[in-house]
Amino acid sequence: MECTNRTKEKCFQELEDFINSLETQKGELITVLHKAQDIFGYLPVEVQSFVEEKMNIPLSEIYGVITFYSFFTTTPKGEHPISVCMGTACYVNGAENILTELKRELGIRVGETTGDGKFSLDVLRCVGACGMAPVVTIGKKVYGRVEPDEVKNILKEYQ
Ligand code: FES
Repeated sequence: MECTNRTKEKCFQELEDFINSLETQKGELITVLHKAQDIFGYLPVEVQSFVEEKMNIPLSEIYGVITFYSFFTTTPKGEHPISVCMGTACYVNGAENILTELKRELGIRVGETTGDGKFSLDVLRCVGACGMAPVVTIGKKVYGRVEPDEVKNILKEYQ
């Protein structure tokens, strides 16, 4: 579910229900943060504070965990989230060059979102389509055997 302003209350309720359903909260911070990111799409301060309150864990500890694990993010994903596969097959077939081209075209780094909120950029481990390496996904769409000079045209589909 996408959390808009309208549905925010429901999202917090869902997170609270999840926390309450845990047999014990001890050692479950990462599980809870995963769930929170699933629900909200990212982990803004208000979500971190909510977890702090419900689990009685200091905000500094929560923030420490979020920044330690690269799969957690505190910035909202773009309308079209882009992921570049960095698994072995994709890597040896030039995924790095595709990533460089995407960074250049979008003017952002990995983990960031463009100023207009349209695109965000991430890297992934093998997405299971190695025969099509290098692979890039944009939202649910999968692009295979991507060449660096195709990046511009692919992005145009979304502009
Ligand atoms: S390594 Fe990229 S799809 Fe498997």
